[in-house]
Amino acid sequence: MIETKRLLLREMNQEDYPSLAAILQDEQTMYAYETPFSAEETQAWLDRNLARYKEDGFGLWAVILKDDGTMIGQAGLTWQSIGESSKVLEVGYLFNRSYWGKGYAIEAARACKKYAFAKLNSSEVYSIIRDSNVSSMNVAIRNGMLARGSFIKRYRGMDMPHLIFSAKRKPSIK
Ligand SMILES: CC(C)(COP(=O)(O)OP(=O)(O)OC[C@H]1O[C@@H](n2cnc3c(N)ncnc32)[C@H](O)[C@@H]1OP(=O)(O)O)[C@@H](O)C(=O)NCCC(=O)NCCS
Repeated sequence: MIETKRLLLREMNQEDYPSLAAILQDEQTMYAYETPFSAEETQAWLDRNLARYKEDGFGLWAVILKDDGTMIGQAGLTWQSIGESSKVLEVGYLFNRSYWGKGYAIEAARACKKYAFAKLNSSEVYSIIRDSNVSSMNVAIRNGMLARGSFIKRYRGMDMPHLIFSAKRKPSIK
């Protein structure tokens, strides 16, 4: 669906469950979410994204290494709320820990931003990031985003400060 130098981004399916579980059920990977996901939560996450593909035409996609076909992460676009305000289009990314530190997340994130601007005609894309998640903020910054503000997100019964990053589409030069 989306191709970059080293990666393919495509819709997830049920066969991706084990690769998805390796990400969502890993304690260290999920530290910004406070606890790793259970099997039920992992299936619900997959189902939510399958529903997004149908309803929105996009969602979090599987990130596949072109070299050997391994699913190494997820990246994509989802509608997210910022507090009470209207929904924004978010570039999201979660990668298998074995594949961190190789630039795969930024490669995928850039492709998602480009897709949002070019294919969905969005004028602005966001990444909403917990204030302790420095690695994720670095991906957003490398993706050309600036910090625009902050808000408290209620998640798993906890108040978690989040930063709002966004990039605006540049007007085309005629
Ligand atoms: C957020 C997350 C995807 C970032 O992963 P990451 O590995 O730090 O990011 P990248 O894949 O873009 O890799 C960047 C690193 O690879 C290095 N790198 C190595 N080869 C590279 C290459 N060919 N191109 C670009 N960077 C490269 C960069 O220098 C950078 O290292 P640095 O941060 O020490 O400077 C990862 O931490 C994660 O999955 N976290 C858990 C889920 C999560 O919290 N998601 C975000 C929710 S908001």
